[in-house]
Amino acid sequence: MLNGKQIVLIISGGIAAYKSLDLIRRLKERGARVIPVMTAGAQEFITPLAVGALSAEKVFTSLFDREAEHDVGHIRLARDHDLVLIAPATANLMAKTAHGIADDLATAVLLATDKPVLVAPAMNPKMWHNAATTRNITILQERGIRFVGPARGEMAEKGEAGVGRMSDPLEIVAAASAVLRDEEIRQNRLPLAGKHVLITSGPTHEPIDPVRYIANRSSGKQGHALAVAAYEAGARVTLVSGPVDLADPDNIDTIRVESAADMLSAVKSCLPADIAIMAAAVADWRVAAEGAQKIKKDGSGKPPALGLVENPDILATVGHHESLRPKLLIGFAAETQNLIDNARSKLERKNADWIIANDVSPETGIMGGDANTVRLVSRDGVEDWPEMNKAEVARQIVARAAAALDE
Ligand code: C5P
Repeated sequence: MLNGKQIVLIISGGIAAYKSLDLIRRLKERGARVIPVMTAGAQEFITPLAVGALSAEKVFTSLFDREAEHDVGHIRLARDHDLVLIAPATANLMAKTAHGIADDLATAVLLATDKPVLVAPAMNPKMWHNAATTRNITILQERGIRFVGPARGEMAEKGEAGVGRMSDPLEIVAAASAVLRDEEIRQNRLPLAGKHVLITSGPTHEPIDPVRYIANRSSGKQGHALAVAAYEAGARVTLVSGPVDLADPDNIDTIRVESAADMLSAVKSCLPADIAIMAAAVADWRVAAEGAQKIKKDGSGKPPALGLVENPDILATVGHHESLRPKLLIGFAAETQNLIDNARSKLERKNADWIIANDVSPETGIMGGDANTVRLVSRDGVEDWPEMNKAEVARQIVARAAAALDE
């Protein structure tokens, strides 16, 4: 959501300003351009040199900057961007903004902007709970200005704790994505706005006893990338994930499960959905009788026999659902041989619309890797896609799915 976006970052004067340096990094590594504006107070805590070095941009500090104002700098700053982010926002800056005061560059930008504004306040808990601040926040919210935080915790001042800490940079990043996405939805620019997309991801763990399980090498990277791509296309996304090492994606409703049986009940509880993409590598079998206690060696030298039973097929269950089958149902087929034949037969057996087929022979490095080479198998035929990273594969699948939903 942040890739290619231009963000004016207003830094005002509080000790939390040191976290804004990290915030700049986090925004930039997601592809955003960050144009910094610092108040006089901010410059008491961190230097324009550090902010300029991290943002790789000119740092704006003065309303009366001869160089910037020859082309009405503060108006440009207020207009030419996608988002104005204030982090940290002091009580003073919020008060001035609420009342239309524009006595420095930051407040002039805030008065002149017609872009979405996101505020990350940071102040002492007493100032946060003061009736004047509460009133100012209400005024700003009524104007459509959005807030992230403040969080509860220790203050920089010794012995002070409560609500008032600036949110962590990653939380601010997530909130900025949400605001930018809402703006794009408002402007009708996202194809899956108003749609619900259900995605399964990762492996499943099938318990043998309380400490052991059967698993597979799925990392969840492709499924999680699909969830992010569907979110960025405007959908409400539910991600049902098996055990993975990946963080839950920002702003996405994520349900974590262990076994195939858990995954099936989570998936059923999430229907209806307009699109379902089943990218999880669900275990085909589970242990018939899970040991209630850890299975011990009995001294005979004979290993225990593990009886297996077949797991429910989640994709097939959804595909054959009499009332809640999604309009578009997409499965994955990870194979080491007969890729296309297997994919075609899954398409029929599971009543899916498309199967995304990939060869996961160990030499391909696809399982757990960042790249993927897939084929899209539908009733219309087979398409070979070139190798792409999993995020790009996800974006292409989502774009195709959005187009198919419209047909
Ligand atoms: O395991 P199989 O190769 O048949 O998986 C193909 C597709 O079926 C995948 O989309 C996978 O997520 C789904 N599947 C499932 N439930 C199972 C097995 C597979 O949803 N028990």
